[in-house]
Amino acid sequence: MKQYEKLLLENKAWAKEQTEEDPEFFLRLSKLQKPEFLWIGCSDSRVPADKITGTRPGEIFVHRNIANMVVHTDVNLLAVLDYAVNYLQVKHVIVCGHYGCGGVKASMSKTDFKPVLNMWLRNIKDVYHLYREELDKIEDEESRTDRLVELNVKEQVLHLAQTSIIQRAWKDNNYPHLHGWVYGLKDGIIKPIFEMEAGTHIDPLYEYENL
Ligand code: CO
Repeated sequence: MKQYEKLLLENKAWAKEQTEEDPEFFLRLSKLQKPEFLWIGCSDSRVPADKITGTRPGEIFVHRNIANMVVHTDVNLLAVLDYAVNYLQVKHVIVCGHYGCGGVKASMSKTDFKPVLNMWLRNIKDVYHLYREELDKIEDEESRTDRLVELNVKEQVLHLAQTSIIQRAWKDNNYPHLHGWVYGLKDGIIKPIFEMEAGTHIDPLYEYENL
């Protein structure tokens, strides 16, 4: 059996199991999705959003990219955010990073990863630059990477708050709340590290007035 064929077999077994447990499961879900959460996570295969949060199909709307970035010019991310906030009306947006993140590690190296990856990693380098004083003091490389993972999550949550999408939703609906979490690959535990209640004021430079 080819490797990918195993996935299709596993899928059949899973679908059968779901139907046995709950005969209406697929019928119900096919008609409606009403997730309460938008998850912005790392593409890393070891951090599956639904598995580690015990959420089932229909409960969590997911966007993943390398190092869980919220980049202002990323149309993919912005379309997901807009749809999740304005159409699905999620109550919480979670940015979840993870310790030992390869993207964050790569951004700290001087390696040339060629144009596309360099461009992406540059966004993480900019976070390092912002917290350079604190980070440069941490001698142990693993601890320094993990601290950058935390600070990067915090920065990405701030980036969310800087979008007109979030600011308009805060004004009109008083949600979603924003959360910054970090998942531990070594123990499977998620650590909340930063959060912003709806309506939190940010640097006025980024606040829109005529929403
Ligand atoms: Co990662």
